[in-house]
Amino acid sequence: MFLFFLHYLCATMDYKRYTITSALPYANGPLHIGHIAGAYLPGDIYVRYLRMRGRDVVYVCGSDEHGAAITLRAKKEGITPQEIVDKYHALIKNTFERFGIAFDIYHRTTAPIHHETSQGFFTVLNDKGEFIEKSTAQFYDEEYQQFLADRYITGKCPICGNERAYGDQCENCGSSLNPTDLINPVSILSGKTPVLRETRHWYLPLDKYQPWLEEWLEGKKGIWKNNVYGQCSSWLKDGLQPRSMTRDLDWGVDVPLPDAPGKKLYVWMDAPIGYISATKQWAIDNGKDWELYWKEQPDPADNSRLIHFIGKDNIVFHCIIFPAILHTHGEYLVPDNVPANEFLNLENDKMSTSRNHAVWLHEYLDEFPGQEDVLRYVLTSIMPEAKDGDFTWTDFQARNNNELVKILGNLVNRVVILTQKYFEGVVPEPGDLSADASAMDAFAQIHELTGKIETSLENFRFREAQAEFMNVARVGNKYLTEQEPWIKWKTDPEAVKPILYTSLQIIAQIGILAKPFLPHTAERIFELLNIDGSAFNWDSLQEEGVVAAGHTIYTGEEKKILFEPILGEVIEYQRKKLEKSISHPTKPVFPPMKEAISFDDFQKMDIRVGKILEASRVPKADKLLQFKVDTGIDIRTIVSGVAEHFEPESLIGKQVQVLMNLSPRKIRGVESQGMILYASDSTGKLHLVSPVEEIETGSGVN
Ligand code: 2FM
Ligand code: ZN
Repeated sequence: MFLFFLHYLCATMDYKRYTITSALPYANGPLHIGHIAGAYLPGDIYVRYLRMRGRDVVYVCGSDEHGAAITLRAKKEGITPQEIVDKYHALIKNTFERFGIAFDIYHRTTAPIHHETSQGFFTVLNDKGEFIEKSTAQFYDEEYQQFLADRYITGKCPICGNERAYGDQCENCGSSLNPTDLINPVSILSGKTPVLRETRHWYLPLDKYQPWLEEWLEGKKGIWKNNVYGQCSSWLKDGLQPRSMTRDLDWGVDVPLPDAPGKKLYVWMDAPIGYISATKQWAIDNGKDWELYWKEQPDPADNSRLIHFIGKDNIVFHCIIFPAILHTHGEYLVPDNVPANEFLNLENDKMSTSRNHAVWLHEYLDEFPGQEDVLRYVLTSIMPEAKDGDFTWTDFQARNNNELVKILGNLVNRVVILTQKYFEGVVPEPGDLSADASAMDAFAQIHELTGKIETSLENFRFREAQAEFMNVARVGNKYLTEQEPWIKWKTDPEAVKPILYTSLQIIAQIGILAKPFLPHTAERIFELLNIDGSAFNWDSLQEEGVVAAGHTIYTGEEKKILFEPILGEVIEYQRKKLEKSISHPTKPVFPPMKEAISFDDFQKMDIRVGKILEASRVPKADKLLQFKVDTGIDIRTIVSGVAEHFEPESLIGKQVQVLMNLSPRKIRGVESQGMILYASDSTGKLHLVSPVEEIETGSGVN
């Protein structure tokens, strides 16, 4: 035996322990692949890697069972909120289990321990006098006799112009909003314009915490992902406002004050605390001390490293509001990193529950039994780490057939079959391998790739890590092909021994490296090698050959293939299924009609046909495009929040409708002199509203 993997220098820092969370999904519908690629697969890969490093880690998640997302779904399905969360919590939990996301606990926010924990936070902040208690005029639906907050109210985003912003957030530009910020607010319940009515609430003074948040976030510059850090600094630049932490609702966590009947905690005041209550429950179940994972320790070197895996729509809550709550409480750790992902599209179109334009994970698991790792592999390959990604069934098939089957599966199968054929499954003696330049070269390359995989994983670059992992299989394939054991066998069988010994060590290393990315495949490789894979951790990669000479690998009758090619007809079926669901969508949901206006009101609007002369992105503002528009009477600058919908170059020369007499407004430092009109379809996707054929620029629209 010999050491072929020298101990490489580990450039990464070890923390005492790790507290890893993935966003609590709303228990209001099934999981789709966009959720998985956003917040769960990256968390799972990272946690599996940490566990292989022998780190002390807890990975928590659970269902988010409060808030308007739940009550509105209950209304739609005609059942109670409790029935909704029971139904979807069970489905989501089961789907995660079947897919193999390695949470230590999957909890729920309706659990009593969570109500107590979130109420405890509210009480501590209230006792410290942190909340501003005030009565303000809030939107109220007279027909439904209900105050309208969050998703109960929709309207136009004052920042980007998205027509379908919610009362607490615009999902187009990610801005966090108050209902009264919305332009043309409409009740989701009655479809009517709400009235204003006084109500009392408890506000978190985010403006007061701004200096602390600025200093804290400054320390994350260059460390956090650009998309996350950029969003945070732009909110801070705009200035934070106090935000209400309570709601007038009949579903949620009760505000723990005697004089607050009918008041509930704002769902974003309770949901992130769900991470803590889940950890408490896990600690109770496993005889652990939850405080070690959440609280500041006397010696900071003993602190846990808190990391939140989320999608980009959750950034403000995890990077501003929750850290402010944790910091203000005074005993808690704040997140060390929040590696938020962008969104995953499907066949070049936004994933949409209402249009049923999604690949539902529970359906995938039914239709592709035993192929969890194919989906893991594809989703990691296209993970939207830096920008939105796109899943297509053609790409899914190609990655399976050309990469998993041809590169990884082929290598493992060839090595196993040749060992069975030439040596009856017994690992041959290699002789003096240190003198074998080809073997040493292959090991050196794998050693280098292992270091790259480690660095990428430590830095949340999962796509890159998995690509390097596949390169290890490429090294193995190249080695085996160049050595041609099937030719040497005929003339010099002795020479085949070191080749297959080396190849077996390589596939064992691949089995170990596969554990974070493709855990089911890792197990199958160990089965083929007839060794207990659970014994191998990251350090096993630096040890001598893990498959000893003389050991017998799998020699059974059954042919065990790691990956099967996926046939065209299977992909065709999936594509048809998607087309069918789009051509028979669940009824598109458009916002209800706005309140009637007089003809005079309409006459006040000066709308004309303009021509776009120039279009460009606004620097440091992901959502904004800046135009120069010829309006027939002048050339003006207009800013629209449409960068996610159009490539600027494609708009140059297009005629559009321009609302000319909208008062100029400054958007990110640029004065917008009017508004270009767009049509918003049921998914929120924007389209130009141009004349059917080109007409004189400046023509009036009446
Ligand atoms: O956006 C969502 O789906 C939320 N339910 C995420 C909550 S994450 C956490 F804070 F609980
Ligand atoms: Zn917006």
